[in-house]
This record gives sequence, structure tokens and C-alpha cells, in this order.
Amino acid sequence: MMARAHPVFALRPFLAADTPLLAEILHASIEELTADDYTEAQRQAWAAAADDEDELAKRLSGQLTLIATMNGAPMAFASLVNDQTIDMLYVHPAIAGQGAGTMLADALEKLATARGAKRLTADVSDTALDFFTKRGFEPQQRNTVRRGGEWLSNTTMEKKLVKEAAA
Ligand SMILES: CC(C)(COP(=O)(O)OP(=O)(O)OC[C@H]1O[C@@H](n2cnc3c(N)ncnc32)[C@H](O)[C@@H]1OP(=O)(O)O)[C@@H](O)C(=O)NCCC(=O)NCCS
Repeated sequence: MMARAHPVFALRPFLAADTPLLAEILHASIEELTADDYTEAQRQAWAAAADDEDELAKRLSGQLTLIATMNGAPMAFASLVNDQTIDMLYVHPAIAGQGAGTMLADALEKLATARGAKRLTADVSDTALDFFTKRGFEPQQRNTVRRGGEWLSNTTMEKKLVKEAAA
């Protein structure tokens, strides 16, 4: 029997009760996965987006938010705004590099395409640039955004979506 290369993730929609766990995933993801690209102060300012859980719950429930679970436990999440922009994409460091980010991005791309979007955009962290480039996204512009007292750089990227012909 062949060994499975990646763990099995399942996708499900966001529920408000997930918020505290997703805040933890966001914190751990930024803290551990982005340290090569952002300073400690920048990472703390970025992760503060999850400090107010009511605000985070409101943001995620106002978007199309999907959660990747492993054995029922949330391990990663991603959200789509206006059917055409990926707002959040965070993978827990314990399972980084094992396909959860790809699974979430694939699902959001399919949903955006099915809803008629012609292109998908995202303001992509320096850490995620290679991930999005591999998926066919192209850089449009560099941005510098203020989070708390810190300035952080990201890149607006865009991918043209092609509706698959009906079988
Ligand atoms: C970027 C991120 C979402 C990728 O999720 P992931 O589950 O680790 O990615 P996957 O396992 O699906 O990887 C898919 C491919 O991208 C590559 N990849 C993923 N992260 C990468 C990185 N930081 N640098 C280079 N390549 C990367 C993988 O090697 C893999 O390539 P392959 O298909 O050739 O094997 C995750 O690293 C993350 O949460 N980062 C911190 C938060 C962040 O920056 N979020 C993005 C906000 S826009």
C-alpha cells in the first residue's frame, strides 16, 4: 500500500463559534511563518487584526469564509470578498506546506469563477508571493499599508479566471 504524502483536509463553511480558534491560527501563522519577511514589531501589528474577536467574527461572516479541518479540527482558513478578492488566507504552522493553502485557494477560485468573476485579486504578503505566483497570479502593484504603528509591504496580485466549458 502506498503511503499518503499529505494529510487529509476537509473543507467547510465558517461558523461564528470558530472565531477564537481562527484567531489562534492567524496569530501562529503570522508569528511563525512570516518571520523571514517581517520584523517582530510588524508581525505583532499585523496579528493584532485578530485581537478583537467580535470584529474578526463580523469580518469573516461578512465574507465567504472556508475552513480546512483535519480530523474535524480547524487548521487553516481563507475568505473571499465580493466574489473577486481573497482577503484572508492563513495556515497553521503545524501543517504548513502540506496542501491546505492550495485546497482553500482552489476552492475560492472555483467559487469566484462559478459566480461569474473574471479575475481574482489579493494583496499578497511577501511570504505568500511564491505561493500565489505558482498559482498563476501576476503582480500589479506594491503597497505599503499601516497596521497600528507599523508599515508593512504587500503586493496586489491578479489572476484571470476562465470559466470551464460545461462537460
Ligand atoms: C502562504 C500560505 C497560505 C501557504 O499555505 P500552505 O498550506 O503552506 O501551502 P501549500 O502546502 O498548499 O503549498 C503550495 C505550494 O506553494 C509553495 N509554498 C507555500 N508557502 C511557500 C513559501 N512561504 N515560500 C515558497 N513557497 C511556498 C509550496 O512549496 C507548494 O509548492 P509545490 O506545489 O511546488 O510543492 C501559508 O504559508 C501561510 O499561511 N503563510 C503565512 C500567512 C500569510 O502570509 N498568508 C497570506 C496572506 S496574503
